Amino acid sequence: MMDERRATQMKRIGVLTSGGDAPGMNAAIRAVVRVAYEHEMEVFGIKRGYQGFLEGKADLLSRADVSGISLDGGTILGTMRCKEFEDKANRKAAIDRIKQAYGLEGLVVIGGDGTFQGAQALSNEGMPTVGVPGTIDNDLAYTDFTIGFDTAVNTVVQSVSKIRDTVESHGRIGVIEVMGRRCGDIALFSGVASGAERILIPEFAWDMNEIAQSLLRRRQLGMEAAIIIVAEGVGTAESIVSPLRELTKLDIRATVLGHVQRGGSPTTTDATLAARLGGQAVELLSKGQKNCVVGIVNNHVRTFDIDDALKAKRPLHTKLYKLAHTLSV
Ligand code: F6P
Repeated sequence: MMDERRATQMKRIGVLTSGGDAPGMNAAIRAVVRVAYEHEMEVFGIKRGYQGFLEGKADLLSRADVSGISLDGGTILGTMRCKEFEDKANRKAAIDRIKQAYGLEGLVVIGGDGTFQGAQALSNEGMPTVGVPGTIDNDLAYTDFTIGFDTAVNTVVQSVSKIRDTVESHGRIGVIEVMGRRCGDIALFSGVASGAERILIPEFAWDMNEIAQSLLRRRQLGMEAAIIIVAEGVGTAESIVSPLRELTKLDIRATVLGHVQRGGSPTTTDATLAARLGGQAVELLSKGQKNCVVGIVNNHVRTFDIDDALKAKRPLHTKLYKLAHTLSV
């Protein structure tokens, strides 16, 4: 028998992925769909993020459509960064269109900070929205981890390990550029795990002369090879290599890991996180909670107001950064 809550509950919701794809997005989509059906809600998959929302492109997703996708990289819905979505008139017209065409009453968006800004606008303009953090950058301060970060760090560590083999063989310095525009977490966590000799991230100051001196000092102690990991928010690998070569006259090589960091099957940690957060987003919509985001804090799934989440500031990883420095010499 249909209870009162079911009678008033949303019956049709949409799901989209937006911004840079991240491993685990598919696991999150699967959780959204399967939990929605559990609550007798239909789910429409919106193609290519907010671009698809503007164009009113959506397809009904069945339980079968999301079968076996948990460990697939990328996103079955496609993704995009969409400039036109920043225009309020475009958004309002799209909300009306999508409500009329598909009867959508709520939306789950999976992505990073740009995606969440879109979610905030949609929520204010009449489309109840819940955000799920999906980005390799780990740059959303309200949650301990974002979906995709753990996989990206593991991918970087595997690559650093391979580069380590060759720099050790040649007695060279390897400078490796990793992703992370404003947030150095990929560089910091992968650097600690792989025993990098230097980690350069936007959150902490560093000095080129001091790095050059320490490379030369290490050499005198019998340690010729070294790995320097640089977050893209600091600069390119090449922008570090040139002055360091000049200062040390050592054999220094640059590697840019690039989009390899965004691909691949999610780790168990990411796939599990994605299932928990995707499922929770739908639980919230089913209970009438909206305009919020979900995250993980001390391994507990938590809900935050979308405005508060976007304003949150994460304390710096000062202790970890110092430890990395201590361990490197
Ligand atoms: O936000 C994720 C991210 O991978 C960043 O680390 C990187 O700066 C950016 O996306 C690259 O975006 P694109 O693939 O659009 O060039």
